[in-house]
Amino acid sequence: MAENIEENEYIPVASLEDFTGKIKVEVQNEELLIINVRGEIYAISDRCGHMGVSLFYGELDGYNIECPLHGTQFNVQTGEVANLESRKPKLKFLKDDLDALLKGLGLPLVKIKPLKIYKVKVENGVIKVKMPKV
Ligand code: FES
Repeated sequence: MAENIEENEYIPVASLEDFTGKIKVEVQNEELLIINVRGEIYAISDRCGHMGVSLFYGELDGYNIECPLHGTQFNVQTGEVANLESRKPKLKFLKDDLDALLKGLGLPLVKIKPLKIYKVKVENGVIKVKMPKV
């Protein structure tokens, strides 16, 4: 969206107008979700901290977003795992099956990392995110 981006500069990514729920944007080769929770805007990595699945199709439940594959919920304010147990029993079985398969093969369970979060500000109806130094 912007050219000649200075390091640590806030980058415009979307308009607040007509924006509810979540949208996906790409900034400096990273896929982010911009999330609106009751008028508060957050930016998180679009990739689940478990196996890297896109969270775009995950359901929002207040400040938590649920991974559409295994159902882990992440807090959009902190990026931390909010709940390892899915609200959907079917997703819980998928995660339990994966864990059982890995254990049966003698492989370590895949650890769930917190999501990357990004600083956000809104100026004149434009949502801007601050990318970390590389
Ligand atoms: S890929 Fe998201 S919880 Fe497994």
